[in-house]
Amino acid sequence: MKKLSFIVLLCLACCFNSFSQNTLVLREDNIEEILNAMTVEEKVSLLVGGPGNLVPGAAGYTREIERLGIPMTVLADGPAGLRIQPKRDGTDQTFYCTGFPTSTLLASSWDPELVETVTTAMGNEVLEYGVDVLLAPGMNLHRNPLCGRNFEYYSEDPLLSGKMAAAYVRGIQKNGVGTSVKHFAANNQEINRLENDARVSNRALRELYLKNFEIAVKEGKPWTVMSSYNKLNGEYTQQKHGLLTTVLRDEWGFDGIVMTDWGCKENTVKSTKAGNDLMEWGNQVEIDRILTAVNSGEISKEELDCNVRNMLNYIVKTPHFRQYKFSNKPDLKAHAAVARKAAEESIIMLKNGSETLPLNGDEKVALYGISSVDFVGIGTGSGWVNTEHITNIQEAMTKAGFTLDENLAEYYRLCYATQNATEKMNGSSIDKRHRPEPTITVQAIERQAANNDVAVFVLGRVAGEGADRVLPEDFELSAIEREMLQNISLSYHKLGKKVVVVLNVVGVVETASWKHLVDAIVLPWAPGQEGARAVVDILTGKANPSGKLPMTFPINYMDIPSSKNFPYTWDMTNGRRGTRKNVDFTEYEEDIWVGYRYFQSKNVEVSYPFGYGLSYTTFEYSKPKVKADNDGFTASITVTNKGKVAGREVAELYVAAPAGGLEKPARELKAFAKTKLLAPGEFETLTMKVSAYEMASFNEATSSWETAAGTYQVLFGASVEDIRATASFRFGKTQAWKVQDVLGTPMK
Ligand code: BGC
Repeated sequence: MKKLSFIVLLCLACCFNSFSQNTLVLREDNIEEILNAMTVEEKVSLLVGGPGNLVPGAAGYTREIERLGIPMTVLADGPAGLRIQPKRDGTDQTFYCTGFPTSTLLASSWDPELVETVTTAMGNEVLEYGVDVLLAPGMNLHRNPLCGRNFEYYSEDPLLSGKMAAAYVRGIQKNGVGTSVKHFAANNQEINRLENDARVSNRALRELYLKNFEIAVKEGKPWTVMSSYNKLNGEYTQQKHGLLTTVLRDEWGFDGIVMTDWGCKENTVKSTKAGNDLMEWGNQVEIDRILTAVNSGEISKEELDCNVRNMLNYIVKTPHFRQYKFSNKPDLKAHAAVARKAAEESIIMLKNGSETLPLNGDEKVALYGISSVDFVGIGTGSGWVNTEHITNIQEAMTKAGFTLDENLAEYYRLCYATQNATEKMNGSSIDKRHRPEPTITVQAIERQAANNDVAVFVLGRVAGEGADRVLPEDFELSAIEREMLQNISLSYHKLGKKVVVVLNVVGVVETASWKHLVDAIVLPWAPGQEGARAVVDILTGKANPSGKLPMTFPINYMDIPSSKNFPYTWDMTNGRRGTRKNVDFTEYEEDIWVGYRYFQSKNVEVSYPFGYGLSYTTFEYSKPKVKADNDGFTASITVTNKGKVAGREVAELYVAAPAGGLEKPARELKAFAKTKLLAPGEFETLTMKVSAYEMASFNEATSSWETAAGTYQVLFGASVEDIRATASFRFGKTQAWKVQDVLGTPMK
């Protein structure tokens, strides 16, 4: 009997062995062999996303080809943390993710190392929840403050945006999972985002709207790029060969896959040929279209294989291919601590008159604003994260030991509950973007002023995918907010007490008309699930603010050049919202004059300049040095903490180019560095390197990047307006880098 079983086992082993030898399955080193073995149908199926339920709540999947050992892979949003369904049928286990600070706040840190730490933790959740690619970072430029997704994006400046995105990608991908840099490109508004034609000059594209992607691709090496929904100079970006192949792959060396945003366009064949490898959210229609084109020869074998090869190269990197045994149990507690610390390091202090802040921590606080309970941790849409809890300011202040005016706190809790109950009763849903701000009578405010030591007013604004912010309510204070602020200001100031505003907003708001009414302003943006605690740490001085603005705060909305052609216009004559302009196309008439490039160069006054942010200490800039050679320059600046508390400082390096040749912005950010935590009296010398190529401007006439010969000023600033030290250097000869003229011209 024993002998018989042994023989059976031996036979089975032999069979298995010969089976595995004859069966061709995907390995890292046999991609060409697999490509040869694939049927046309199999190849095409790999280029079209499909259904799946491996991870409930994931945004999409790539298709499995079982016979060749090609696994399904999982793609899920988004920039502030993984977005999956937190609860599943048949189990009590939960699948919450950490809501990290949103991208605009991360950019306010000006600290790529910090961003990398955050996304190292975020990427671990991606891995441990069984996802292969995080559909992030979002990195379209902040062209106009009304874009509803600006909170998912970083900055009005391409260098800051590119460096942040590159760091983001590195952190996530350290975990052996991928990223998708999105939305490529010129997706700077939500209105008619599926069809709008962004009409942008080649210079503005090269220097601004593509520059940040170029940096992220070259320095971050993302596994994937997501093409956007919109058109660019008359062609859908997902079908623009010049963009997806010539620029992205041939010029920048991108070697991953390009996928469409969720809704591929009708001309799937053109997308495939343009270099868009994966159609998402895909279905049989796209498969049929590609198959027909392959059979008719419209898509050649070489073209098809090129896309499929990209897909296979992507798949062999994924956890699903490696059969990684994910735990579904990331360390959410540890990640919450990372989220809190990151918010602390990024929050911006805009105003601190007569050293109102930090508070002692033992004050009696009157906490105002519906957003003190309905705290905006994250924006809405695919940028949302299903967190277990988002701490609000009321909770955070109470936890930190503050004595809150309990009647007032209860009033806001009640208002919030009533608004929600009314919503349920009416079957309506509150437009969260414009949750009504409750009113309080002057008499009540005066009583509160008498009974408390300080007023803190939390002003909130939320927005998200699918809609832009609207005027005036998303940008201006509402009539009630303004009245409340005026009454609070009067009542507290009469008694010599201070007023602090916390701007819990997803995008830039108007500040010029009311900032004089308050003593201090803290700007945490939408700081994630732990952000409220970080705000309180800043208010008490437990953390010293070191964030700086990644964009300009203008005085008026109409001061921004792109406001003249952004699809919503505000009827300035009677202060009402104006009519929507044409939405079929957007002329980027302001060209390269975006953000501080415009305000600085044209001497237009702003409310708070790009790069601005206060600290509880002061810093001295000294010993500016610069050394140039043909390849670029190296500059250094010494930053000394001259105050009484420890703090960190972001030093910004701007360059002013010599006159003559192309017209250039008065100054452009070319590098930045953040000190370590400097104790009082301590100093650090920051060294920054800039290459000649990074200095270049784009000459449309010759389709080349040019760095002109001449004398350059290097300006070391605490903001774009606050230059603390300068140096200069000379480039002996002009350098140029020619590129192909493939991006089309804006149609007239
Ligand atoms: C958004 C993308 C997102 C995708 C998947 C789209 O509507 O524009 O940013 O990654 O959906 O959820």
